[in-house]
Amino acid sequence: MCGIVAFTGTVDARSILLGGLARLEYRGYDSAGLALLNPKTGLIDIIKKVKQPGRGMVEVLREAVPENSASAGDDSFFVATGIGHTRWATHGVPSVANAHPHGDCTGEIAVVHNGIVENHTALREELLARGHEFRSQTDTEVVAHLVEEYYVACNEDLVEAVRAAVARLSGSFALAIAHAKHPKELVVARNDSPLVLGVTDYGAIAASDTPAIIEHTRDVVYLGDRHLAILRADGSYECQDPAGIVYVPTTVRVEHSLEDAERGGFPDFMLKEIYEQPRVLRDTIAGRFCAANKCEQAHLNFDELSLTQEELRTIERVVIVACGTSYHAGLIGAELMEAWARVPVSVEVASEFCYRNPIVNSHTLVVAISQSGETADTLEAVRLARRAGAHVLGITNVVGSRITLEANTTIFIKAHLEISVAATKSFLAQVALLTLLAMHLGCVRNQLAADKMAAIFSELLALPEKLESMLADVNSIKEAAEKCKDASTMLFIGRGVGATTCYEGALKLKEISYLHAEAFAAGEIKHGPLALIDPSANTPVVALATQSATYEKMLANIEEVIARGAHVVVLATEGDERIAKLALQGIDVIYIPKVPECLSPILASVPLQLFARYIAVARNCDVDQPRNLAKSVTVV
Ligand code: F6R
Repeated sequence: MCGIVAFTGTVDARSILLGGLARLEYRGYDSAGLALLNPKTGLIDIIKKVKQPGRGMVEVLREAVPENSASAGDDSFFVATGIGHTRWATHGVPSVANAHPHGDCTGEIAVVHNGIVENHTALREELLARGHEFRSQTDTEVVAHLVEEYYVACNEDLVEAVRAAVARLSGSFALAIAHAKHPKELVVARNDSPLVLGVTDYGAIAASDTPAIIEHTRDVVYLGDRHLAILRADGSYECQDPAGIVYVPTTVRVEHSLEDAERGGFPDFMLKEIYEQPRVLRDTIAGRFCAANKCEQAHLNFDELSLTQEELRTIERVVIVACGTSYHAGLIGAELMEAWARVPVSVEVASEFCYRNPIVNSHTLVVAISQSGETADTLEAVRLARRAGAHVLGITNVVGSRITLEANTTIFIKAHLEISVAATKSFLAQVALLTLLAMHLGCVRNQLAADKMAAIFSELLALPEKLESMLADVNSIKEAAEKCKDASTMLFIGRGVGATTCYEGALKLKEISYLHAEAFAAGEIKHGPLALIDPSANTPVVALATQSATYEKMLANIEEVIARGAHVVVLATEGDERIAKLALQGIDVIYIPKVPECLSPILASVPLQLFARYIAVARNCDVDQPRNLAKSVTVV
């Protein structure tokens, strides 16, 4: 979603703000802007630009920022304080007028905002009635005018003015506010939208996400809901709760490196992140297995779970809530939990769950999966589940994210920073973690024998190496992608966890290549989708036919689509001779190493990620920043 950077200090704010915004570009944006406190004029310079085709937003903005924002040729001053923003339109079209920062009527105040001010219409009417003039269609602009009013009412106390303004807002917001009369400080505030702070020897910085900060400091503070903070140019900050009580916040050490936030030699983040997956798998599995000893059977270590074993045994139902790719991981987790723990599991799209009075009570374990930990729909589902008395287990990748504060318990996947909008390594880590959790539940509920669990675990341990061998030779994937890149639509078919793997494969293809794709449980194709197949229609079919209980049925489905003239790409197990014979008839085959069916999604989803990426590249799409999408969807 939108990105915020705010800095005040003893070095030039312009380069810090532009650098920070560049690191947030991965979030997606349609416009960007800066507000710089100009020490020469005592005013705020606001510079805003709309995205231009084929050009990086920050590059365009950088050109527009004067070397010296007051008087050209005068090198003797620098801009100490400023705020910056990359916008992803919600209220109001992408335009310069709607780009942030937004100002008040006096021109002394500038505001950048992430989130949605839900009561902006009422506030705007109220402010208009009192004579304020609005220049944009955004919800954000009301904040600037509210601060303007309260600044007068609070005797020019900026912090009090912001507190009073924020108290009037409903909805989600992360805000950074600059005032021309306070050139050595900034006020930031948040509710339901992420905001991180840090200090350095040369100033204080805040941003909507850590990549904009870690170049300057790794020790960060995640600001609480409706809390505000004052950043000072001397490199200090002060956090206050909604009542204005000053407190010393907990500092969190950010472990991911700046290099994680860069491409490391790969042409795009998505490819880099796909190739990081063996390491992510190793990190996710590490430390979970406890071998049998004299006193205990082999078991898994899930110390983070705040539920006792007795409580895990008495759970009557599990409900998994998530969106997009995380929802697909949930579908795979559900199959494994039902199979191993013999507990009913339903998987719900979070945006539906919230609005349909679901049956959830204190005997329900709600598992909320979110890579970012900030997805608004998933957070709403968490709140509903908590109100209904359920125990909520959050599974996320981001320390300090909203979900970690709202769930009863959190387990972190070990995907590390994921920058590409299309989720890849976080999906794999989610699936691996859910597999472990399903095994753990199975053991605790006495439904999965310890030796069977140990056998599955040793197969899991072997996966990173198998994945490395797959990633070492991707020619068959490239060739298949080349043949399918001009398809009019594509069908993905599989059965069991293979069908879910296909849902994820089709989503990846759609979101980054803009090629329409749909996935089906293969048994369903004769109930409708088969009508799409026609030799002249260029509708290739991707079929997942690795070794499984339904392998024979998949072969029959493959024959069905071949007979109707579709070009077929099959994912098969290495050494499968029947598929090798079909390859002689002109189908494409991508082989994956032998793996038990329950673990097949972990290996099979990787060629589908690469397949989508190669097609997207062949179609000249921006792989990391697909149109209309954002990495973290903090609006409902
Ligand atoms: C697709 C993708 C999205 C996210 C979805 C949920 O590649 O990344 O579908 O999975 O927006 O995001 P999180 O997991 O952050 O809640």
